[in-house]
Amino acid sequence: MEGIRGLLHSAKLIGPANSLRAVRFARRRDGVDRRLAPVPRTPRRTPGRLREARVTATGTVIDFEDARLEVRFPRAGQVSLGWDGALDEPSYAVLAEAATDLLDLPSPEPPSVKLLETDDGWRVIGPGITLEVTAAGAVTFLDDDGRVRRSDESPAWDGAGWTLRTRLTEDNTVHGLGGRAQWDLRGRRYSCWNTDPGGAWLPEDDPLYVTTPVYAVLDDHGAAHCLVDNPCPGTVDLTRDELVASFESGPLRIHVSVGSLPETLDAYTALTGRPTPPPRWALGYHQARWGYNSAHAVREVAQGFRDRGLPLSAMHVDIDHMERFRNFSFGEQGWADPAGLVDNLAADDVRLVVIVDAGLARDDSYPIYREAVAGNHLCRLPDRTGDDGPVLEGVVWPGRTVFPDFAHPAARRWWGEQLAFYTDLGVAGFWHDMNEPSCFAAWGDPTFPLAVRHRTDAGVVDHRKLHNVYGQQMCRASYDGLRRLQPDRRPFLFSRSGWAGSQRYGGHWSGDVETAWSALSGSLDQCLGFGISGVGYYGPDIGGFTGEPSPELFTRWFQLASFLPFFRTHCAWHLPRREPWEWGEEVLSHLRGALERRYRLLPFWYTLALENARTGAPYVRPIAWCDPSRRTESNAFLLGDDVLVAPVLEERARSITVRLPAGTWSHGETGERFSGRIDLAVGPSDTPWFVRAGAIIPTEDDGDLVLLVAPPDDETPPGGHLLTDAGDGWDEPHHERYRVAEADGALVVTREVIHQGDFPFGGVTAMTVGGGQVHVS
Ligand code: NOJ
Repeated sequence: MEGIRGLLHSAKLIGPANSLRAVRFARRRDGVDRRLAPVPRTPRRTPGRLREARVTATGTVIDFEDARLEVRFPRAGQVSLGWDGALDEPSYAVLAEAATDLLDLPSPEPPSVKLLETDDGWRVIGPGITLEVTAAGAVTFLDDDGRVRRSDESPAWDGAGWTLRTRLTEDNTVHGLGGRAQWDLRGRRYSCWNTDPGGAWLPEDDPLYVTTPVYAVLDDHGAAHCLVDNPCPGTVDLTRDELVASFESGPLRIHVSVGSLPETLDAYTALTGRPTPPPRWALGYHQARWGYNSAHAVREVAQGFRDRGLPLSAMHVDIDHMERFRNFSFGEQGWADPAGLVDNLAADDVRLVVIVDAGLARDDSYPIYREAVAGNHLCRLPDRTGDDGPVLEGVVWPGRTVFPDFAHPAARRWWGEQLAFYTDLGVAGFWHDMNEPSCFAAWGDPTFPLAVRHRTDAGVVDHRKLHNVYGQQMCRASYDGLRRLQPDRRPFLFSRSGWAGSQRYGGHWSGDVETAWSALSGSLDQCLGFGISGVGYYGPDIGGFTGEPSPELFTRWFQLASFLPFFRTHCAWHLPRREPWEWGEEVLSHLRGALERRYRLLPFWYTLALENARTGAPYVRPIAWCDPSRRTESNAFLLGDDVLVAPVLEERARSITVRLPAGTWSHGETGERFSGRIDLAVGPSDTPWFVRAGAIIPTEDDGDLVLLVAPPDDETPPGGHLLTDAGDGWDEPHHERYRVAEADGALVVTREVIHQGDFPFGGVTAMTVGGGQVHVS
């Protein structure tokens, strides 16, 4: 939201006192940053002519007159390129374990790398990927079939900054870049600087909260996936027939994976960390609101679900639960017995999730603040000589606010210990907010002064180098803390901001998405883009954060979100209540349908979550997943490989057109079989979904596992599988595989247990998608 409207909107959300403080903060920030030395600019430099190349234990080193290129092969089909020692600089993205290969440590099987001289440089042949490096430093990436997957010009440096140009063909599409609300990213220029857009965003707004330079370029044959492993400020320009990545400073280092989209995401998450799967309950429905301002209000809402027989898995409490917006506190008024609230909700199998902000109130009577000061855990400004100066003071909900330096190992450890306040009370999940980091500023960039000093594991850096990973490091602090506090549980946390590798710690949500039809499809695009960026667990604020949705918009958003991993309603405090029954009986019946279907499909959702943790394959997959020729499409999506969802995204739609991928598909509700392009009538309770012929989808009914079978056709190999466990913890999941065949005119499903683990179901039955009889053997 821009201009005067945006300002008024922000002022309404943050209140008059903080609006005044925001003026003072912006003035102070500008004063501090005026003294900041600019990033040095020097004459442009290129690598110069190639001199020599040699094979190393993990790849090759190629020396140019003015630069050195190192190439390493972490795994088949994946290659890391670093200029001038960049591969040895610390990375917030690459996992230490995954980096053992990269760090020239003895690896069990050093990749076999061949180096051949060509007419114009060297060919580096690694496992599953070959590079052609020219005498001037341009690099072409080929797959094992000799196809060009990516083509980079030689890089150019300008002082600490650099630019890398990657050619794009006309029919390439580009996806990812963190949490952008657009599926095909071509035609625009994107900033890589995590930003709180200030209370409301629409798909055209950029940047938003997560701006990681990680993307997939698609063509008819598959993907070239790339992480630019540099958290410094940068841009990715897609306005021409090239992708131009320009960074103000930081390492010139990329990790490229080639293959099918599934193969590249597998390689990417092997390198940057597999997603931590949420506990099973977190795949159910979550009800949130800014404005549940007492334990009584929360109880009442949960009771409302119970009274109406509506399923509910979690209640979320926003900053209203805190004593004067202090993290790690419950308010004295209305929140006297938080443990009682947890118990009360638990009786209905509902969990309590709390918001945790990045900043802490600056108040000597607040013990957490005093501890943070005593332990030297807070971000500081530089003094006149450039050393540690005063603690940074910004403005967030509590007014005067200070911020832990999450880059600092001791601060992370200290922060992690604070979560015991909540876990001791039985709080089950954590919602990380304002961690771009966000500060209320009357003008300019709503974040820290750039001069802020961070004490990282590898020395002091200013905020320019740390900004983009601040939120990710907050999640790391909480995740590690929760692992220490509750070693037998999987942490459940989701965060507004993050960076490459955030999937190791949890998921993301939309942040303050505007209430608008365009934002409904924008939130689906954001989900798909996060998937390409390695983060599968995502969901939007159903109905939009900032406005009053019409009953129709709310219903359609609810229906879409019932098919997204994180299924949560949330909105700002000044809006009318949004519990499912607030819209009257008719709307409630549509929402009930979506809720009940979601809970029936939970074994399928859980399988997707555990699969995501094994291979990085997102729960929600673009149609390009199975058909790269349809890479521009984002109005329908796959859940796993075998379910297609065609949500209703347009106002007053009475019918939608669905283009089914190859083969026959059974309608998820009626079992009717379709193929190709179809026009379907849609009523207000319909969200068309389809199951691929031959697929077997695990569902549940009253504690029993019910295998939903789509009758096979001649083309698809029939089958399915189930991953499950106790619902939490670290035991290897139970894994079973299913096959379906026809015998004596009846369908029969055979089960094969691949790994025996916790199996939380009573009986096992099967039926066709339309409700027909199937035997289980
Ligand atoms: C901003 C978050 O995006 C929103 O979800 C939350 O309700 C408010 N902060 C208040 O905590």
